[in-house]
Amino acid sequence: MDDGDLARYDRARICIDFGTALSKASICLDPTMPIEVGVKPLPIGGIARAEHPLLVPSVLYVDAGRMYFGPAALEQARRGVESNRDPLISFKTVLGATNVDEALQTKLRPSMDPTGTFRQRDALVLYIAFLDQLIREAIDLAPNVPNIVANAKRRYTSPVWRPGSGADKTYERIFNEAAAISQRLGKLFLDPAGISIAQLKDALDRAAAQPGNGLLETGIFEPHAAAATALAFTSAPTRFVLVFDMGAGTVDMAAFEFDESTEPPALSELKEARQCSALAGDEIDRILVELYMRKRGGEKSREDELKLLRTAILSARDLKRELFTTGKCSLKTGWMATTIRINELMEDQNFRTYLNALRQTVAASLARVLDRAEQVNADFVDIVIAGGGARLPFMVDLIKSAGTLRPSPVQLRIGPLSPANPLYTGVDASLRDIFPQISMSVGGALVEMMPAAAPAR
Ligand SMILES: Nc1ncnc2c1ncn2[C@@H]1O[C@H](COP(=O)(O)OP(=O)(O)OP(=O)(O)O)[C@@H](O)[C@H]1O
Ligand SMILES: [Mg+2]
Repeated sequence: MDDGDLARYDRARICIDFGTALSKASICLDPTMPIEVGVKPLPIGGIARAEHPLLVPSVLYVDAGRMYFGPAALEQARRGVESNRDPLISFKTVLGATNVDEALQTKLRPSMDPTGTFRQRDALVLYIAFLDQLIREAIDLAPNVPNIVANAKRRYTSPVWRPGSGADKTYERIFNEAAAISQRLGKLFLDPAGISIAQLKDALDRAAAQPGNGLLETGIFEPHAAAATALAFTSAPTRFVLVFDMGAGTVDMAAFEFDESTEPPALSELKEARQCSALAGDEIDRILVELYMRKRGGEKSREDELKLLRTAILSARDLKRELFTTGKCSLKTGWMATTIRINELMEDQNFRTYLNALRQTVAASLARVLDRAEQVNADFVDIVIAGGGARLPFMVDLIKSAGTLRPSPVQLRIGPLSPANPLYTGVDASLRDIFPQISMSVGGALVEMMPAAAPAR
């Protein structure tokens, strides 16, 4: 690779989205390239041997002197149901904490790390090092991505947006330490047999003393990233976009006004529409687990009851997917199989309460956007559904019914951020089902193409 090649890709950047459930990564080779060739999701799930080539379970698991990462951690957690152990599933509460530094310094709970070795910060550093190895390997194997871009600048999507909060310095140090560890331990991160705690601790100490170059450029507000994707791939541009991103941990809503009269065009946020709520995928899982436990009936001992609950919790995401795809799901524990049908969930009181609360939340953001759209006589507001929640078959109707709570001459166009929606014909059709989930990492990688104006209003 000569200097010409280096210069050619000096605007490349990689955006990581550490979701509560799943991590994703995308690369933008050059923001001036046509979008279909310039931006690509990276197959980090394929490298990690995960279920989906573009998704890596955001999980760590500590057991018997070793730490496991991603799919291997999930596998170990399933085997570990007997030993009263929990995987570390979410970084989101840490990343979204009001005091990030304090949250990072807390130790992992003993049910996650009985050795008491790791703080949240250590877990995050190690997880980023793991992702860094997946990214490097994915780039190495990708036929149409030059190897040089493995050293492209890094971005991460963030559920909070606090410019000037100092958090970027914290993350910069974290990425720098992760880079040193990724370099030291290399492909050991790709081994399903995990890495010994002693080796990890040693690497953490050395990285703290001598950090590497994590190449961190910036954090990107998640809904902003999704809106950038929506606008970049739309075949019917509109002035107002309300992004509804339902992941596992949170539902994030944010609305944007796109102004093409300036050069470059500006994407400014209607801040009063912004909301973050916990009424997301994990909440549906909890309702489903509760329904399952009621239907199955309990166990005699408290210990067996807890074991059963742990099994149900670890299976919940798969059960939910099966339930919404086939109309029923079944979980076998011991000799007993318990089946739940979709109408049982739809009629469950907890689930109905959940749906009502979600409808009210959507309506609150929507009302703010409609106020503004009516002021300027806009014809349409696009409501773009991102995240795994886009797969829920009732979602479009739920948002539609939230719209009826605030009658308006402005029309709503509601649909997933995917080629399943006629507004997004530019997206590779093979990514149809997965696109809403990867769209935050895609948008985070390309977002400079549509710089954000200073926050409006
Ligand atoms: N086919 C499906 N049917 C129902 N739910 C699904 C389906 N596929 C994924 N999900 C749910 O989507 C959620 C994962 O979506 P996503 O990857 O957007 O979340 P995340 O980014 O990890 O979470 P967050 O953004 O809250 O941090 C999980 O709750 C998962 O169970
Ligand atoms: Mg997400």
